[in-house]
Amino acid sequence: MFKPKMSEIEKNLSTITAQDTWTAVDDYIEQHLFAPDPILTKTLQHTEELGFPGHLHVASNQGMFLAMLIQMNQCKRVLELGTFAAYSTIYMAKALPEDGYILTIEGRDTHIALAQENIDASGYADKIDARLGRAADVIRSLPADTAPFDFIFIDADKQSYPEYLELCLARSHSGTVIVMDNVIRAAEIINPENQKPSINGLRDLFTALQDHPKIASCTAMQTVGSKGYDGFALAIVK
Ligand code: DHB
Ligand code: MG
Repeated sequence: MFKPKMSEIEKNLSTITAQDTWTAVDDYIEQHLFAPDPILTKTLQHTEELGFPGHLHVASNQGMFLAMLIQMNQCKRVLELGTFAAYSTIYMAKALPEDGYILTIEGRDTHIALAQENIDASGYADKIDARLGRAADVIRSLPADTAPFDFIFIDADKQSYPEYLELCLARSHSGTVIVMDNVIRAAEIINPENQKPSINGLRDLFTALQDHPKIASCTAMQTVGSKGYDGFALAIVK
């Protein structure tokens, strides 16, 4: 397919203009469709005050999307790979019933300390089990009789997504919903010149999802918004 090449400067300029619009529309969505939750606002504030980057959180409308997927599917047991500040974790915890549980795994000690502070301040600490470690190691070390998870959010290092997918499938049941964040990366996924391990990891993820014997259906949605141009992949376990 013919695709005109944009210079890097043209690409940056058109992205800057588009980004302002995407952020303004995200603000509009938030202002009109749901009231900001003071607990979640506090999580963002605390994260910023301690000097951590803001771009690693999901956007608020994306957090709401995760929460609604959990509610639609009446999920009780959630597994999250990549906690960062626990913003998405707290969003998901809010959507869970009384006996809900989230295991969230974070590889960086500075992030897990921040996450635990935010979790403790949120009032959802009784539902959230936040653990430090490489997600693959923590999942492998779960006891064999651990009940399967109903909802899984993969949002850790992109390079390892194919490995995470297999480990998550082994901890799923028929009907488990798996959401994978950041799978489009401003179209870098289709840029053949980009051979970064993270981008190749995403390509390997798509290959693994395609015709996977354990997956009933899967898709990916491109997203634009305050976080730029990216996307989610979504799978239902067979
Ligand atoms: C990055 C990671 C994320 O999970 C995300 O949502 C956005 C950015 C990053 O590593 O840059
Ligand atoms: Mg992410």
